[in-house]
Amino acid sequence: MITRLFEPVSIGPVTLANRVAMTAMHLNYTPNGEVSDQFLNFYAARARGGAGLIIIGGAAIDDQASGADFFLSIQDDRFIPGLSRFTDVIHKEGSKVAVQLYMAGAYSFCGLKGLPIPAPSEFTALFTRQKTTPMTLEDIDRIQQDFVQAALRAKKAGFDAVEVIASAGYLICQFLSPKTNKREDDYGGSFENRMRFGLETIRRVREGIGSDMALIVRVAGNDFVPGSLTNKESRVFARAAQEAGADCINVTGGWHESRVPQITFDLPQAGYAYLARGIKENVSVPVIGCNRINDPFVAEEVLKEGIADLVGVARGLLADPEFVKKAREGRADEIRRCVACNQRCFDHVFRAMPVGCMVNPRAGKELQTEFGPAKEPKKILVAGAGPAGCELAVTAALRGHKVVLCDKEDHIGGQVHWGAPATGKHDFHYIFDYYKAMLSKYGVELRMGAEVTVDLVQKEKPDVVVVATGAAPFKPPIDAVEASNVHQAWDVLQGKADTGANVVVVGGGSVGLETAISLAAKGTISPEQLYFLALHNAESPEVLRDLMVKGVKKVTVIEMQKRMAQDVGPSTRWVLLKELEMRGITLITGARMKEIEQGKIVYTDLEGKEITIPADSVILAMGSRPENSLAKALETAGIKNVRVIGDANKAGRIGDAVEGGFALGCEL
Ligand SMILES: Cc1cc2nc3c(=O)[nH]c(=O)nc-3n(C[C@H](O)[C@H](O)[C@H](O)COP(=O)(O)O)c2cc1C
Repeated sequence: MITRLFEPVSIGPVTLANRVAMTAMHLNYTPNGEVSDQFLNFYAARARGGAGLIIIGGAAIDDQASGADFFLSIQDDRFIPGLSRFTDVIHKEGSKVAVQLYMAGAYSFCGLKGLPIPAPSEFTALFTRQKTTPMTLEDIDRIQQDFVQAALRAKKAGFDAVEVIASAGYLICQFLSPKTNKREDDYGGSFENRMRFGLETIRRVREGIGSDMALIVRVAGNDFVPGSLTNKESRVFARAAQEAGADCINVTGGWHESRVPQITFDLPQAGYAYLARGIKENVSVPVIGCNRINDPFVAEEVLKEGIADLVGVARGLLADPEFVKKAREGRADEIRRCVACNQRCFDHVFRAMPVGCMVNPRAGKELQTEFGPAKEPKKILVAGAGPAGCELAVTAALRGHKVVLCDKEDHIGGQVHWGAPATGKHDFHYIFDYYKAMLSKYGVELRMGAEVTVDLVQKEKPDVVVVATGAAPFKPPIDAVEASNVHQAWDVLQGKADTGANVVVVGGGSVGLETAISLAAKGTISPEQLYFLALHNAESPEVLRDLMVKGVKKVTVIEMQKRMAQDVGPSTRWVLLKELEMRGITLITGARMKEIEQGKIVYTDLEGKEITIPADSVILAMGSRPENSLAKALETAGIKNVRVIGDANKAGRIGDAVEGGFALGCEL
């Protein structure tokens, strides 16, 4: 039972109704740094949905803080009216609200505006690829004053708290780290000196805002950057931050440039809660534990076991604004969980696009996607219970239509049902757990193992037929694809194909690469075996690592483009490439498959030269094409009112299917 999550908690002078803090997210809904209606409606929905504390931002504290005009700003008094309007709305909806004071330092893009990129020392920043300018003592004082002025504006605008960012590798982290701080004055050298900039900033902000406003400090629990701070130093800094005036420590993972994944789906749920626990043992103020807490039961466990005092939920509330409300009302099964795909949130930030959500088609479009009951209830027959079909069925049924949802398989989920578990996307089952609950709640008639045919449509006489039959893998037009050693990646992932010791995957998109990883992992030890062997010190860490990554197959991927993983977003692509490398998978780009022969495959390279490599098995991952033969058959039979959605319309990603299903569900 979930109880602790709903207990009030105090952060300094502010009491929150529950222990869920929505942590800061750049959303790109704030043109010229201003609060927009889109921004306001987005957060109003999360406040209405019961989040105890909403932290917005990061908000740029001055010109050099971010360098991007679409980041929220608090750098001037002219932003106060918009921010006041915002806090009024959030307070009326019942949440407390904080703003994160953002200063990126070396990660700032202000160099593009001709401004010096401030940092403790001179180095080339990994993010901006521009050289930083070491801060003078005057710069240090000015930036600290900018923090204070920004905090005072927040107070005027009615915020309950401010959050100073000392995480993710931003300016305060750069001062803390010996990697980026090479100063020889009072702000560099010993750890005590490196802490000085951050602690002075916290102290000055505290003095500025007084004791009637809360001060949160967000720290990196471990930088996860070689040569930088570990969880040991972060505990010391957290303690010092408390002594400097922090009312709460918000603990996240490492830096943006860390090569340890921070928010991708391979990070287990609550994977960094242990960092919060370490800090909680060292401070007496409340501690927020973050990262991949996407489920109220996981959150409850973190709180109940005393690992943290609050949970930070960012994408979980992007995916479902009513995360808290539904959990409180015993409707946890109705929560759309974040599955950490990052496809429409973090990837959109990288592309300077407004943030959305793969599983929630309404995220960031709260007002324009409002819908009411259907004017005229219809009977809708849906063929295919993948993401498009399920989303359509739920939306249409919620609006009062009578919906019959059929699938020729004995389960809902389409490709995701087998594709996700086979490719390490452990949380993707949540997508369909949600649909199962909602299909049942809104009375959708589910017919599994039931293929929709022209006969069935003629018998059922629905008002509308929706074809959501998904996609089929592309088959190249060469005879050899029928040979017994040639398989589709889809069959491999479904466990339907036996593969030899030497495997060549054709196609270096996400499907091909993830299939290659699943093949390269054959023969490695399981997580449970690893845990057991590590627990008992049965093997050395080096041996365990080898057992974990070295499988029994030699896997090669050939791709005709010049780049692998073109269809994978920037937040996840590097993680995928890293795993391919760790598993010793050979990647060949600019390689066009020409022929498959017994025991080998022939490809041409970019110069047109023919190259032959051994291949006991060839796995095809050459994309997919819409599977819409039903739509064609219905058209031939003269059946009207047929709509085609999802991959059956255009092969795409889950988010496209969900969006298409939702749009049609609202339209009918
Ligand atoms: C689109 C996006 C933007 C983010 N922007 C910020 C930010 O401005 N400041 C910050 O401290 N964290 C930022 N984060 C990190 C989140 O606050 C959070 O720590 C992270 O997403 C992990 O938590 P989650 O698994 O609950 O999403 C951002 C995350 C996302 C997905």
